[in-house]
Amino acid sequence: MNSSSDGFDMKNRVPKEPGHFITFEGGEGSGKSTQIKLLADHLRKADFDVLETREPGGSPNAEAIRQYLLSGMAEGKGPRAEAMLFTAARMDHVENTIKPALNAGTWVLCDRFMDSTRVYQGMDLDTETVDLLEKIAVEKTRPDMTILLDLPAKQGLQRALSRDPDGIKDRFEKEDEALHEERRQAFLRLAQSEPKRIAIIDASKPEHIVDSQVWKACRRRFGIRTPMGV
Ligand code: TYD
Repeated sequence: MNSSSDGFDMKNRVPKEPGHFITFEGGEGSGKSTQIKLLADHLRKADFDVLETREPGGSPNAEAIRQYLLSGMAEGKGPRAEAMLFTAARMDHVENTIKPALNAGTWVLCDRFMDSTRVYQGMDLDTETVDLLEKIAVEKTRPDMTILLDLPAKQGLQRALSRDPDGIKDRFEKEDEALHEERRQAFLRLAQSEPKRIAIIDASKPEHIVDSQVWKACRRRFGIRTPMGV
């Protein structure tokens, strides 16, 4: 797609359609980063501009906060402080990366977003606090669609371990299987409460099957027409 950053289509000089915002959620080892790349490939082949980004992070300031959060340094400060750091990172990411891209007509694919705060920090905080933090960080930049890559925690943790057997685990990967399974159930409840936005995809299937299901859900949601077999 011919795009410029001023919100106009370069060829026709008419205001461009804003892009669409798709977030990916799920537990450790659910394949979010692989599936984001695959969906980005489909969208680019269909001639859309695509930005791949992640949370925590996605802008220079938010990446600095990510280092602090994942190192575990914020853990001792308690769940409220951690949630506020995720919120500060998100605010910066939304303002400096996500909104400008959407305004320029780019599709934004984001690895984790506000639902991760609901699930991870939401376990230790009351709903009002989580609602307020979400409102502050996100305002109107809510995802048009969320792909929940669902698989049992045990399988996800095994996958994450086999991918990187000697890797140093981050603050969240160290936690035990029961907690990861609780989070899986919390993601599923969230998806059930917002079925229009959140599509649940079975991530225990082989990568190419998950890919085709994600692409199908996305085509259906946004009415994308592609030639047969693409
Ligand atoms: P990351 O290495 O990006 O892991 P993953 O591949 O699982 O996405 O680490 C991000 C970690 O931060 C992950 O364990 C989930 C956690 N997290 C929260 O607790 N709250 C949040 O709002 C976000 C965005 C992430």
